Amino acid sequence: MNRKFPEGFLWGGATAANQLEGAYQEGGKGLNLADVLPGGKVRLELLMKPGFNYEIDQDKYHYPNHEGIDFYHRYKEDIALFAEMGFKVFRLSIAWSRIFPRGDEETPNEEGLAFYDRVFDELHKHGIEPVVTISHYETPLHLIKEYGAWKNRKLIGFFERYVRTIFDRYKNKVKYWMTFNEINGATHFPLFGLGFSASSEEARLQESFQGLHHQFVASALAVKIGHEIIPGSQIGCMLVYAPVYAYDSNPENVMYALKEEQIFNYYCGDVQVRGEYPAFAKRYFKENGIKLDIQEGDLEIIKEGTVDYIGFSYYMSRTEKKEKTNEENASGNIIGGVKNPFLKASDWGWEIDPEGLRISLNKLYDRYQVPLFIVENGLGAKDKVEEDGSINDDYRIDYLRDHIKAMGEAIEDGVNLIGYTPWGCIDLVSASTGEMSKRYGFIYVDRHDDGSGTLERSRKKSFYWYKDVIATNGEQL
Ligand code: BG6
Repeated sequence: MNRKFPEGFLWGGATAANQLEGAYQEGGKGLNLADVLPGGKVRLELLMKPGFNYEIDQDKYHYPNHEGIDFYHRYKEDIALFAEMGFKVFRLSIAWSRIFPRGDEETPNEEGLAFYDRVFDELHKHGIEPVVTISHYETPLHLIKEYGAWKNRKLIGFFERYVRTIFDRYKNKVKYWMTFNEINGATHFPLFGLGFSASSEEARLQESFQGLHHQFVASALAVKIGHEIIPGSQIGCMLVYAPVYAYDSNPENVMYALKEEQIFNYYCGDVQVRGEYPAFAKRYFKENGIKLDIQEGDLEIIKEGTVDYIGFSYYMSRTEKKEKTNEENASGNIIGGVKNPFLKASDWGWEIDPEGLRISLNKLYDRYQVPLFIVENGLGAKDKVEEDGSINDDYRIDYLRDHIKAMGEAIEDGVNLIGYTPWGCIDLVSASTGEMSKRYGFIYVDRHDDGSGTLERSRKKSFYWYKDVIATNGEQL
């Protein structure tokens, strides 16, 4: 018996607008980054290398985010299924370009605002609290083409207008917010979070750290404005967190792992939670030729706009050594590192490490002492529909069970963990590859990589399992 989860623990599931809504040109929505990303393995290649061109080429590629899983038209059915599982919360993002189709308009698009009103009302009808990501890899395309996205300081002003608009509109409907999804991922793949691909490999660090500075100011302003407009609101940051292990006890490898951990895992958290640039940044910037343009007043804004909690995604750990060969690389782990001999990996090469989640929770709580919220975790896997229509995803249940056990241990360790929203609670388009076949859901969606399928929803075995987990507040695993 597991009695570790506190009363009121926020069980639920997580998604993002661009990966499930579809209806990419309906309701006055403007194009955004996800609309120009093709499906298939080519997406990852384009994401990682400099010089992406942001054009749609229908003859060459398929664009799975255009239709997503059609949540835009089917949200009522989907929310009813979430309610059937007993969700307390549902994490979704607002597509910025539904509210401001180009991003730089003075007035918002009423149809876009009304759509999220309907979604939030439907959630509340079922007693589900929304958890809203304000920006989840969805920068409006016009801001990218016209302004160079977050490279440009002007984005702060556009973002400020956007957050004021949504805080005002949804002040009685949304209490939990997060500013930028996986903000620290930007240094590895700037295109997703910052909306631009580096102009060259040499320029990548300079451009992404400058873009991050603009996002820190924007995020801090959002926290301040949100607290003013919605008293009692909880506004978090959102990190992609992968604890960094040293490959062995060689002090050189330990120091290398520590330095990687600082700059990848803690740099953004330190700024957003503590309100100050960390001491280690100075040397890193010097050694990497990074010079930040910080304008008067920026540091005060950052200081005043610290977050209420840390939301983070956890999929894998990372193992580091100073000198590594290509063969040693953990190829599937998109944030790098070498293969860990103690861990198995998913079909996509993501190393599976439940104990790493307990380690992450302890490390984050030791460092920051603010509430923690796991807003993404899960196993991307291929599912098989049996003749009778059932889907027996025991591998997914095993994965989630092990991670929930690790959460229970961390709570016993003293960590203040407030909730858990596994990623892709309903099958949706993969962010990194655009595939539908990389499924995370408790709910199966009949949609395939080539765009075929009825879009019909059905319950997997994990659906019933997770329902019991929630009903027993994590006791029955
Ligand atoms: C996170 C993102 O990085 O991981 C999600 O916030 C994404 O948008 C999730 O979908 C899983 O990654 P993928 O590439 O398997 O979809």
